[in-house]
Amino acid sequence: MRKGKLEKAFTYLESGAVLLVTSHDRKKENVMTISWQMVLDFTPRIAICTGPWNDSFDAIIRTKECTLCIPAADMLDKAVGIGTVHASECDKFKFFHLKKQKPTRVKAPLIADCLAAIECRVVDYVKKHGILVLEGVQLWENPRKKERRVLHANGDGTFFADGQFFNRRQEMKSRLPEGVKRL
Ligand SMILES: Cc1cc2nc3c(=O)[nH]c(=O)nc-3n(C[C@H](O)[C@H](O)[C@H](O)COP(=O)(O)O)c2cc1C
Repeated sequence: MRKGKLEKAFTYLESGAVLLVTSHDRKKENVMTISWQMVLDFTPRIAICTGPWNDSFDAIIRTKECTLCIPAADMLDKAVGIGTVHASECDKFKFFHLKKQKPTRVKAPLIADCLAAIECRVVDYVKKHGILVLEGVQLWENPRKKERRVLHANGDGTFFADGQFFNRRQEMKSRLPEGVKRL
């Protein structure tokens, strides 16, 4: 992956992508799947929803960092596998053959085969609702990835990938940040 403009990081998430969220706690790295996520603004500020029943939660809360990796449609089985096993059961990076790439602003690794990754810091935690509010600090993009379709979850064990794209950029020009365009 190569570095991208942080101002367009939200374009990978606004449509509600399934995410692989990596974390780093002392020497141990972990990854979990998240589909409860929401873009809050352009900066980008992003909310994810999780809790202490997951091993990742402790690490994210303690380090106040994580990396949101955006898998493409060819990674569906990995995303489901990662989301149905805990770190205490196996080393998910090894088990799912995930190639790590070094981050620059946080310690949680990028997953190199993903479409993009956003290094984030935790800026708030709304305990009552299990909402972690994140601020993206570095975007990474993978222009060489052939499969460009993002994955979306229906919440019932079924998924769909990006379909037809519609371009209304001209009509929305007054409401879009200058120059923002997803790869
Ligand atoms: C498609 C999918 C979506 C998921 N979305 C969420 C989510 O939004 N929030 C959450 O807390 N767990 C979610 N999970 C479950 C966690 O990924 C799962 O509990 C995982 O095993 C946690 O790993 P860990 O204990 O190593 O952190 C999802 C799982 C799948 C398969």
